[in-house]
Amino acid sequence: MSATPALLGKHIVLGLSGGVACYKAAELTRELTKAGATVQVVMTEAALQFITVATMQALSGRAVYTNQWDGREPNHMPHINLTREADAVLVAPASADFIAQLAQGRAGELLALLCLARPQSHDQRCPLLIAPAMNREMWAHPATQRNVAQVRADGATVLGPAAGDQACGEVGDGRMLEAEELRDELIAFFQPQLLAGRRVLVTAGPTFEAIDPVRGLTNLSSGKMGFAIARAAAEAGAQVTLVAGPVHLPTPRGVQRLDVRSAQQMFEAVLPLAPAHEVFIATAAVADWRPAAVAAHKLKKDGSGRAPAIAMTENPDILASVARLPEGQRPWCVGFAAESERVVEHARAKRLRKGIPLIVANHGPSTFGQDHNALVLVHEAGETELPAADKLTLARQLVAEIAQRAPVRR
Ligand code: CTP
Repeated sequence: MSATPALLGKHIVLGLSGGVACYKAAELTRELTKAGATVQVVMTEAALQFITVATMQALSGRAVYTNQWDGREPNHMPHINLTREADAVLVAPASADFIAQLAQGRAGELLALLCLARPQSHDQRCPLLIAPAMNREMWAHPATQRNVAQVRADGATVLGPAAGDQACGEVGDGRMLEAEELRDELIAFFQPQLLAGRRVLVTAGPTFEAIDPVRGLTNLSSGKMGFAIARAAAEAGAQVTLVAGPVHLPTPRGVQRLDVRSAQQMFEAVLPLAPAHEVFIATAAVADWRPAAVAAHKLKKDGSGRAPAIAMTENPDILASVARLPEGQRPWCVGFAAESERVVEHARAKRLRKGIPLIVANHGPSTFGQDHNALVLVHEAGETELPAADKLTLARQLVAEIAQRAPVRR
């Protein structure tokens, strides 16, 4: 089953101003079209020094515009026409000079002109996003910072820049974000801001319960669902804290991540954080038990043929403990129930036992480690099914459900 392309139906004007980072714009065009967008490339004179029209035209599948006197438009007004059909203008790379032009409202060439002429009124709005790319000294210069602040104040969204190695050999702030990062920023930009300004705490992944310095008990949770939920909540405008067990997954953009290993560590991280959050989503597959004592040294075979008896003790129930916090300190709690049989029935019982308003049931063995899942939301009023889809699509649907149900804390 393939995921719904996240930018399906979106038409993006991709503007290139001059800079070595133009090479990333080629990859970005591919990423945006792969994500379902149509891309109309517009290049400045300076951009033409770095990458050719032929490359950008081949990748976007559309004739590139470079000049305001382009006779292809019947009314001779590319600066008007191009943004009237666009969902957004993304300028990547945005050079220091181009940002200065934006700040001053200059319209010397087509790209700056169309940014100035784009509709700003509510019903027809064509937002502007810029991805700065320049040498670190140019970026840090008060003139550039002043211009960026002005462009922001005028309503543009500034993506990056990142720190790192620069084409000139120096290291610092000013690198343009990578193509995949810009694609994800754009996807996030189009998500409805259902959780704007709300604080969401998420647990994800398995836990690891040490037996000795080299062994432990864990489970097959990959953390993918929890990370997708953290990403979806952040995209919806929430401030997200993600407490993650041992997983090898990149941190979603804008999410604050805390890594832990054992259930006890997860408990100790979550409990103090919980009161400052409005919503708690417990997706972690927390080990129910841990060895009562961790052996100081690796356990050795003793030649008797008998396995060592490992005494176990129960771990604290993180979700139930958060759900028992006093009113005013207690976030709205969402649990997950990974079951192997009678999924909904077990989930109903678990919701009541944990004392939480919503539990998300799924079939553990068929989803652990996979990119797809199917969910049943079990709540007070009954059940809501979210049919099989990729985990990010489900995460966005779940976030929308949570946004609707969780009361806003005053
Ligand atoms: N959970 C938790 N802390 C634990 C155990 C579970 O926070 N020590 C949370 C999980 O993150 C999940 C929910 O509780 O949101 C249900 O977890 P699950 O392991 O399915 O439930 P259990 O309470 O262990 O119940 P059972 O053993 O009966 O399946």
